[in-house]
This record gives sequence, C-alpha cells and structure tokens, in this order.
Amino acid sequence: MAFKVGLLGFGTVGTGTAAILRDRDRRNPLLQDIEIGRVGVKSLDKPRAIALDPDLLTTDLESIVTDPDIDIVVELIGGLEPARSLILKAIAAGKHVVTANKAVIARYGDELYAAANKAGVYILLEASVGGGIPIIKPLKESLGANRISQITGIVNGTTNYILTQMTEEGADFDAVLTEAQQLGYAEADPTADVDGLDAADKIAILASLAFGGRIDREAIYCEGIRQVSAEDISYAEKLGFTIKLLAIAQKTENRDNTLQVRVHPTLLPNAHPLASINGVYNAVLVEGEPIGQVMFFGPGAGEGPTASAVVSDILAIAGILKSAGKNTALNPLLSCSHQDYSAI
Ligand code: HSE
Repeated sequence: MAFKVGLLGFGTVGTGTAAILRDRDRRNPLLQDIEIGRVGVKSLDKPRAIALDPDLLTTDLESIVTDPDIDIVVELIGGLEPARSLILKAIAAGKHVVTANKAVIARYGDELYAAANKAGVYILLEASVGGGIPIIKPLKESLGANRISQITGIVNGTTNYILTQMTEEGADFDAVLTEAQQLGYAEADPTADVDGLDAADKIAILASLAFGGRIDREAIYCEGIRQVSAEDISYAEKLGFTIKLLAIAQKTENRDNTLQVRVHPTLLPNAHPLASINGVYNAVLVEGEPIGQVMFFGPGAGEGPTASAVVSDILAIAGILKSAGKNTALNPLLSCSHQDYSAI
C-alpha cells in the first residue's frame, strides 16, 4: 500500500523531510510505503539542495491539497496565511495533515481541529514545538496520567543560540543572529524568534495540551531578548546565574486556580536543570503529580531534527492507515489528537 505525501513548502525542513523519505533503506520499513507525490514551491527555478523530479514541483499549492492522489498534506510554509486556508482545504478534501506551524496552531487550533474532527482526519504537529524533541506526543499520551502543575521551557533555538554565543564568546547580537539564520534555525522573519513570539506560540500549544483549556495566544505576556546586553550577561555570570529566554505555563494555587502563561528572559541559578542547555538545544521541564519532574531535551531547530519530527507524524498516520485500510473512514474519537487540541 503506498501513501502519497504532498509537501507544501520546500525550504530547510522540507529539504530534510525529503532527504529522510528518499533514504528509506536504513530506517523504519514503513517508509517503503511512503512516496513524495507533489511538492509546492514558491519558484520552480530556484536551485535545490536535494534533487527532485521536476514533474513533482508546482507553484500551485492549492492543487496539491485537492489532489485526489495525495493522502497526507505536510504544511511547511509557516505563518498564518495561506497556511490556515490550505490546511482547511486539505481537511475538507479528506487529507490528513502534518504541520510544523506553531503560529497557526496556537491561534487557529480550535478551528482546525473542529474541521479535522468533522472530516475524520488527523492533524499532527510534533515538529511545531522543540524541533526534534518528542514533546507533543509524550505530553499528550505518556504523561496523560498526571496532574501537571508547571511547564518551563527553552523552546526557541535561535535565541538560545544567541544567548549562548553572547555568553561564551562575548559575541555581538547581530552577528550571532545572522549566523543562526545561515544555519537555518531562525524563522523567515527573525523578529518572531528575537521578540519571543515563536516561544509564545509554542508555550500556548504545550499549555493547552497539558492543562486542557483554551489559551488566548494574544494574552500571553511576551518579552524577547533584544534588551539583554553583554553587560547583563556578564553581571549574571559573576553572581552565579545564567540568562535564558523561558516560556512558562504555571498553574497557581490561588482560589481561581488560574494559569499564568508568559515568555521572558530569566535569571536562572547555574544549578537549575535548564541553565546548562546551550546552543540551539531546547529543553522542556514538566512538573506534575505523581511523576515529579521530567525533562525533555534535544536539538530544537534545524533541518534534520525538525524533519525527524515531521516524518514521525507521517509514519504515525501511515501506520494507522495501513492497519485500518487506506480508505477506511477514521472514527474521530479514536484519532489521537482531535480531542486534545480542540480547546486550543
Ligand atoms: N525559529 C525556531 C527556533 C525554529 O529557533 O526555535 C524551530 O521552531
């Protein structure tokens, strides 16, 4: 049984995804059943890091989401529009969707999951938070028995890379940002990284999963790292602290049982488990009962790690479709994600 994937976008993560899907032999045998059916790009003439059959390429992304031969649409264009509309069209056409798009899920998760639920298709987003770190599925499934009290994360690789280089090399902010962009860590518009917006999208998703409620993305307090100077870092070091951009979702013990969700640079004592997370690495510390503390750590951005998460979702869908029969309508109640995300 072959499953055809339609890629929307062929930048850093699309290239990594195609590389894994092409190199099928030494990985999961299910990859033998997955083919790239179409690839939506901005320009047909752009040189590519990976050779693709030119017949697969199109600039008409809408034709991919409605193509009857495509089973799984992988949205890697990022941003709100046309990503949201394309995902909705894919769902309406009965396609399963894999996305790395935290911005669209943090704001339109409700709408997208209601649509997917109605259509009986999956929408999976492991790549949207933490790059290559498995965090969505563990939070949703493996930690499902816990009452979560706090999530504290370094969830933006670009800013962690910048802060690390400023700390270790005394490097200049702008030079390190350019380097992070060249390495494929930063968003197309690095403002989203530097001003904490990307981290806020990610903590909105994690908080919604962990606490099971709707998070108003626009209400999240968000402060980035532009104001952090080399002097601040040096003073912090002298006092035994390190400065990290943290994304925090915390259930307070007051009568209202409110949830605080915020992103800001934070002074962390050097002994804190997140203080030694350096470079492009991300880490998410989850605290709950009865588990106590559990920390997820790994490469938080970049081609290979993010593609690893994207392909894990493609494999998850292909595995279910293979055992259920490709054209079997899925029972939305059995779908592993709709219920969980419906409240985002
Ligand atoms: N720009 C993001 C980061 C990419 O630096 O973490 C991964 O979401």
